[in-house]
Amino acid sequence: MASDLTVIVLAAGGGTRMRSKTAKVLHEIGGRSMVGHVLAAVAALAPTRVVAVVGHQRDQVGPHIQALMPDVVLAVQDDQQGTGHAVRIAVDAAGTSSGTVLVVYGDTPLLRGDSLRDFALEHEAAQSAVSVLSGVVDNPFGYGRIVRNDEGDVEGIVEERDATPEQREIHEIGSGIFAFDAEFLVDVLPRIGNDNAKGEYYLTDTVGLAREAGLTVGAFPLEDVIQTEGANDRVQLAHLGRELNRRIVERWMRDGVTVMDPGTTWIETDVRLAPDVILLPNTQLLGATVVGEDTVIGPDTSLKDCEIGAGARVVRAHGELAVVGDGANVGPYAYLRPGTALGLGGKIGTFVETKNATIGAGAKVPHLSYVGDAEIGEGTNIGAGTIFANYDGTRKHRTTVGKGAKTGANNTFVAPVSIGDGAMTGGGAVVRRDVPPGNLAVSGGPQRNLDRRVPRESEPTSVRDPADDEGES
Ligand code: UD1
Ligand code: CA
Repeated sequence: MASDLTVIVLAAGGGTRMRSKTAKVLHEIGGRSMVGHVLAAVAALAPTRVVAVVGHQRDQVGPHIQALMPDVVLAVQDDQQGTGHAVRIAVDAAGTSSGTVLVVYGDTPLLRGDSLRDFALEHEAAQSAVSVLSGVVDNPFGYGRIVRNDEGDVEGIVEERDATPEQREIHEIGSGIFAFDAEFLVDVLPRIGNDNAKGEYYLTDTVGLAREAGLTVGAFPLEDVIQTEGANDRVQLAHLGRELNRRIVERWMRDGVTVMDPGTTWIETDVRLAPDVILLPNTQLLGATVVGEDTVIGPDTSLKDCEIGAGARVVRAHGELAVVGDGANVGPYAYLRPGTALGLGGKIGTFVETKNATIGAGAKVPHLSYVGDAEIGEGTNIGAGTIFANYDGTRKHRTTVGKGAKTGANNTFVAPVSIGDGAMTGGGAVVRRDVPPGNLAVSGGPQRNLDRRVPRESEPTSVRDPADDEGES
């Protein structure tokens, strides 16, 4: 490809049909903004420079683009006078005058880097002044039509509103994605007029102008036309989102992941899966989640930014920023909040919520518990129904449980508190003071059995305590 490659990303549009306070190109599919997908495709070409044209909601869009691509040049288009006007502003901002210039839109999230590369190479091989990436579609309504002569050479692009009835019958449409010879582009931009139905400066007019000047013009159809589709409303957003997911899920299956129900499995762009992972229905793997070999996830599980070890089992769970060790077990019905780290072969069982908790290798929290701000040592077993009471109403405190400890059912650990290695606690204990290693902690008074079988006539409703009967009879 040309040693000097400039890519212009148009992202100034209003996106009215989204009916959203969020700018159109910032709406997400597959865990990434639409413009984020486009920038990833662009980055794959390793261009010399990238210029993004921002306008509407540029306070949101500009910083987002800069965060994803720090060396991007931002060009501001205050009023939307058309795609030709937008590109002129970009070229001025970049000072580009040689090499190849690619123009892409910020709202075509399925566009792939290799398609863009092939297109740029075809354009350069043909030594065209301008090339358009086209596509043949069933319903061309709304798109610019590629007008070819009897020899099949491209004559120009006509917008829907400016097209004759015969031209509207053309099914080859312009994607809006262009490749230009930079010298031609710099020369032609000031010559684009706005004498058309919308009164805008159309970038598409460059094709006709090149033809008039006797220059070479190309249109290269992209078979996989959905790559050039933009999402203008939330119906199209969902359509592209589902298609993107279908592609991602299919790619993982080809890489050795078993997906029982691809239709209910959602895998975001940045997720990484090892071979022989098994995903059961209704599983969502989001963000930067990583899953190790032979792990089974699902059904009904969503994990965001989690790291799941090899051979683990995660059933009906929701996790965020949690780490699950190799061979560990989670669920069914577990909630892993940020800062959870479950060790090798450990267990976070049924109706258990964890947060900022390190649970050692082989340690188990099997049932009905809340574990917040805690450290649990290797091989320790936490009794059913245990609450790590970490919050005193003002501050959070930590609880430490040592290795090989065994705590009773229905305990409350009132933090800050620590339970030593090998210690035990009785059922129902409320642990407020540290338990030394190897000790057994019990709390609460001795059990009293109250005889309720013969209520006294004078006190038909109150409970009788045998202690009150002392001295009688
Ligand atoms: C454009 C093409 C059309 C093509 C279609 C493909 C033109 C004149 N027409 O039509 O041939 O089939 O895309 O989807 O180019 N933008 C700016 N500044 C502006 C105007 C637009 O940044 O002043 C951006 C928009 O945000 C959008 C893109 O350029 O991302 C396309 O603009 P839009 O008005 O949607 O063009 P279409 O009418 O869809
Ligand atoms: Ca459009």
